Amino acid sequence: MPAPVKKQVHLAAQLPGIHNVTVWSDPRSESQIAIDSFIRLAQTVERGKFDFFFLAEGLRLREHKGQIYDLDIAGRPENLTVLSALAAVTTHLGLAATVNATFNEPYEVARRFATLDRLSAGRAAWNVVTSHDAFTGENFRRGDFLPEADRYTRAAEFLTTARELWDSWSAGALRADAASGEFIAADAGRFAHRGRHFDISGRFTTPPGPQGHPVIIQSGESDAGREFAASDAEVVFSKHNRIDVAREFYRDVKRRLATYGRSPDDLLILPTANAVVADTDEEAAAYAEEISRELVSPQTAIAHLEAVWGRDLSAYDPDGPLPGIEPEDDAHFLKGHSVFRKDRAETARQWRELAEERNLSIRELVIEVGGRQTFVGSPQTVADAIDGYVQSDGADGFVLVPHLTPGGLDDFVDRVVPILQERGVHRDDYYTGTTLRDHLGLATAPRPAAWGGPGRPLRTGHDEKENTV
Ligand SMILES: Cc1cc2nc3c(=O)[nH]c(=O)nc-3n(C[C@H](O)[C@H](O)[C@H](O)COP(=O)(O)O)c2cc1C
Repeated sequence: MPAPVKKQVHLAAQLPGIHNVTVWSDPRSESQIAIDSFIRLAQTVERGKFDFFFLAEGLRLREHKGQIYDLDIAGRPENLTVLSALAAVTTHLGLAATVNATFNEPYEVARRFATLDRLSAGRAAWNVVTSHDAFTGENFRRGDFLPEADRYTRAAEFLTTARELWDSWSAGALRADAASGEFIAADAGRFAHRGRHFDISGRFTTPPGPQGHPVIIQSGESDAGREFAASDAEVVFSKHNRIDVAREFYRDVKRRLATYGRSPDDLLILPTANAVVADTDEEAAAYAEEISRELVSPQTAIAHLEAVWGRDLSAYDPDGPLPGIEPEDDAHFLKGHSVFRKDRAETARQWRELAEERNLSIRELVIEVGGRQTFVGSPQTVADAIDGYVQSDGADGFVLVPHLTPGGLDDFVDRVVPILQERGVHRDDYYTGTTLRDHLGLATAPRPAAWGGPGRPLRTGHDEKENTV
C-alpha cells in the first residue's frame, strides 16, 4: 500500500518590531528598522524556501501609565514601502503586509497592494486587521469613530470594495493594439460602490498584478473574526500554539468554510511560533530559559500585570506572589495594544489560579502565560515537533518570529529546514511557480467569476503591454 501523502509544512517569517518579543539588549541584536535587517531576514528565509515574509502593524506607539511603553521596540517604518524595497532583492518570497481596515480607505489600500503585486511579480499578501481602539484613532482624522461591533462589517465592506477596484480592470483592458489604434479599453478602471461604510465611484488607476487579488490574511480570534476568515481569507494567523487549543481552533475554522462553498484547502492556518535550536535538547532548554528571562525582566513582569489589573503595582515584588487586590474595572493602563484583554477580571482569576497551583511568582507567571518558546530542542527534535504538529492538524504551518533581529532564524534555516526537506514535507525549491498563490497552493482567485467565470486560472505572467507613458 502506498504511504499516505503527508501535508506540506508552510513556513513564513515575521520581522518582529511591535511588541517586546525580541531580546533587543543582546549584543547580537541589530536594528529593527534598518533596511539591512529587513533584507538579511528576507533573504535568509528565501534561502529556506519559506512561503512569505510578514510585517505586523502598530499605528500608534503604545503607552503605559501615560508614558511611552519603552519595553517595546519603538519606531516602525510603513509596511508596503518596506516590502516594495524587498521585492527588488528577493525573487520568490511572498511579501505580506498588515494594513488596518479601520483607519484607512479602500481606494488607497487597493492601489498600494495592486502596485506591490506588480512590483513583485505576484507575491503580495494583505493581512486585514480590525484594531479599532480610540487611542490609535486619535492619530487619524476621525479619531474615536468605530464601535467594536462594526469593525468586521467595515472590514468586510472594505475588502469587497477593494476587490471591486482590482476587478475594475478586466483581463486584457490594456490593449495596445497598433492595428486599431486602441490603447486601452473604454471601461478600464471604472467602478462604483454604494454601501454603508463606503460610497465611492470613479476610475481606478492601477491594473492589478499577476495574482489579480493579493492573498488575503486574517488574524482575529472572535466569532466574527473566524466567520470573516471562513468567508474571505486564504490564510489565518492565530496565537494558538498549544496543541490542544490549536487543534480545536483549526477544526472550528476549517468547519466554517463549507458554509461559504469553500473547501478546507482554500484556507491555511498558521499560528505564530518561535523556535530555539541548539546542538542538544538540554542546551536548547537552557537557552530557552535564558531567553524567557531576558524577555520578561522584573520590570516587564510588573508592567504585564498592571495591564491586566489596571492598577499601579510598582510596589509589588516581581519575585513575590500575585496581588490579592482585584483589577480596576475601567482603567486602561496599557494603551495601543492590538489584542485587547476583553475580560480582565477573568484573566486575573485564571492567572491567580495558575500561580497558586504551580507556586509561581509574578515573574514566573508572566513567563508561563506569555514568555515561553514554542519549539525547543536539537534540530531533529524541532523538526519532529513541527512536522507532528502539522500532520496532526494543529496547523498548516507556522509564522516564525525570531527572538533576535535579524539573524534569529539562521539556525532554523540551516539546521531544521534541511531535515523537513529530507522528509518531503517542505519544498527544496519553489517548484510550483513564482507567485505567492503558487507557493500556498491557491491557484485561483477567491472571486474567479470576476475574471471570466468559475475556475478560470489567474494570469501568471505579464500578458499585456504596459503603458510606459
Ligand atoms: C495573531 C494575531 C496577529 C495580529 N496582528 C495584528 C497587527 O499586526 N496589527 C493590528 O493592528 N492588529 C493585529 N491583530 C489584532 C486583530 O486584527 C484584531 O483587531 C483583534 O484580534 C481583535 O479582533 P478579534 O476580536 O476578532 O480577536 C492581530 C491578532 C492576532 C490574533
